[in-house]
Amino acid sequence: MKTAFPIKIAPSILSADFADFGAECRAIEAQGADWVHVDVMDGHFVPNITFGPATCAAIRPHIKGVMDVHLMIAPVDPYIEAFAEAGADIITAHLEAGPHIHRTLQAIRNTGRKAGLALNPGTGIDAVEHLLDMIDLVCVMTVNPGFGGQKFIHSQIEKVRRLRAMIGDRPIHIEIDGGVTVETAPLVAAAGADVLVAGSAVFKGGSAAQPGVYGENIRAIRAAADAATSRMA
Ligand code: DX5
Ligand code: ZN
Repeated sequence: MKTAFPIKIAPSILSADFADFGAECRAIEAQGADWVHVDVMDGHFVPNITFGPATCAAIRPHIKGVMDVHLMIAPVDPYIEAFAEAGADIITAHLEAGPHIHRTLQAIRNTGRKAGLALNPGTGIDAVEHLLDMIDLVCVMTVNPGFGGQKFIHSQIEKVRRLRAMIGDRPIHIEIDGGVTVETAPLVAAAGADVLVAGSAVFKGGSAAQPGVYGENIRAIRAAADAATSRMA
């Protein structure tokens, strides 16, 4: 199946130098990143804590393109406005984060931001059918959320294939988050994903002072994914 959008690479700054987010965001964009993926964790919905809207607002001026904010927090609704004001372009909430995902997605859309829906590896796709007219993106977690550098869960590839069929020609991105590498990128791209989040696979071996490595890593992932989709065209 041909992907509806060209492949986008969204490095996750979870694997960046937390003391230098501004320089890291500028470096990955200069090296070919399409979006910047920002992982917000609360130590409650997931067993790790990162940062909140103030840090997102501080990072924002260092990103020219799309700031893709992945909220791994519960509850979500009280914080949506703050992340919108912090400059998020896309705000993604988890289906599992509360009893009223429909209301959460409405609230995100009401801020004028694009709305994303994230699914944990153990979550099925039935509910997505009832939310298709409210979302701009589905994020398929290919690891259990909370940490970078985990192993890709292969059972999610079939989920991506089914989601792509369900989405049809609606303008909805399928984003993959977790364990994306040169080896796994082609598998999800061929199944219909078009946005590939990658943390460790982009940042490994580089730094904001040695950003060329980021560029090599981004190009390698993109080339592997593009090769898989063109074979399917
Ligand atoms: C996991 C985060 C991911 C993570 C991906 O909870 O949502 O964005 O940073 O990291 P890698 O690419 O290292 O698996
Ligand atoms: Zn993420």
